[in-house]
Amino acid sequence: MKRFVIVAGTRPEIIKVAPIIRKLIDRKINFKFIYSGQHYDHRLSTQIINDLELPIPDFSLKLKSKTPASQVAEIMTNLADKLGNKDDIVLVQGDTNSVLATSLLAVKLKRKIAHIEAGLRSFDWRMPEEHNRRMVDHISDFLFAPTRNSYQNLLDENVSGKIYISGNTVMDAIKEHLPFSKKKSTILQNVKFSEYVLATFHRAENVDDEKVLNNIIKGIISAKIPTIISLHPRTRKMLKKFSLLKKLENNKNIQILNPQGYLDFLALMKGCQFILTDSGGIQEENTSPLLSKRVLVLRKSSERPEAIDLGVASLIPLKYQKIREAILREWDAKRMKIKTSPYGSGNSAGKILNVLQKHL
Ligand code: UD1
Ligand code: UDP
Repeated sequence: MKRFVIVAGTRPEIIKVAPIIRKLIDRKINFKFIYSGQHYDHRLSTQIINDLELPIPDFSLKLKSKTPASQVAEIMTNLADKLGNKDDIVLVQGDTNSVLATSLLAVKLKRKIAHIEAGLRSFDWRMPEEHNRRMVDHISDFLFAPTRNSYQNLLDENVSGKIYISGNTVMDAIKEHLPFSKKKSTILQNVKFSEYVLATFHRAENVDDEKVLNNIIKGIISAKIPTIISLHPRTRKMLKKFSLLKKLENNKNIQILNPQGYLDFLALMKGCQFILTDSGGIQEENTSPLLSKRVLVLRKSSERPEAIDLGVASLIPLKYQKIREAILREWDAKRMKIKTSPYGSGNSAGKILNVLQKHL
């Protein structure tokens, strides 16, 4: 029997495929869920899977490799006999190494590929994600662009697969989980400030570069504003390596938290004054009227121009004075209220499956 094979390997992929998995269960459609294990830390993987009440994956890999090339090779080798049959559709989401590896394998195995969140472009060739998304878009059969802008990027590149505009499934995730976050999350009881900035950053071009990471830390510390940092394992490792971790830990305006489950992170976003991040998903999430927080983006470019055009996200130059000034300015600014998101109203999973079911 034909079916969907859904492959996820990192925190944002789990969050964004969750609404699709739930819809498949509702519609009683046959599927297989594979975890490719790029994120092996419990807090970035099983904690999120459990939080979202997803089924236990049919197959889970724990990646041993740490370098991008060996990550891709290890996933390809280990999933070679896991991607179902010739008629199955392999579903991937986003732009991680896991997505690239799965898609390369799928095309070699002659499987049809559905790429969710297709057509995003930062036009910044320093970013591994930009390499991955371009390659995956060109070997996908079904491309689900979240917005008209991402659709246009795909038309401009003349991709060979069929393109559809679907919104972003992260909007479905917020709609589905915010009510549970309100009921179940107790994280705000552990937050030591009544008003705070929420910060999280992990991008390679920021945290692997000592000068840039130092600028970010100096910017946060010198602003002297209460800040909660959800610390990604990559960032923790690099802060230690550059002897910056103690500076943060010893600062009374800063509280460091481990990576949070999705319900707790939603509560932290809901409760904050604004967000300082280099995350992609967080820029999208805050265009939702349900969250609607300003996001200061620690990046030179964004593949989410819709969030910038809406006034939710602003790019902040990676100089410590600029980061400090941006934090201070935003702390005193009026809070915003978004009415509609460019990424849809939370019905993307249904739209995507309506298209794909016709091809099963
Ligand atoms: C990856 C994605 C990025 C995405 C992010 C989501 C790529 C190229 N990058 O970045 O697009 O935004 O996930 O969080 O695919 N580490 C751990 N435990 C883990 C995972 C990572 O300690 O569970 C540490 C390891 O030292 C590892 C480093 O973080 O070498 C980088 O991990 P990796 O998965 O390669 O990239 P991320 O920075 O997590
Ligand atoms: N997130 C989370 N816990 C955290 C930090 C982030 O659940 O401690 C969620 C966040 O709400 C968003 C997703 O993880 O949905 C973003 O993941 P990340 O920033 O790791 O990746 P990116 O979106 O940049 O690829």
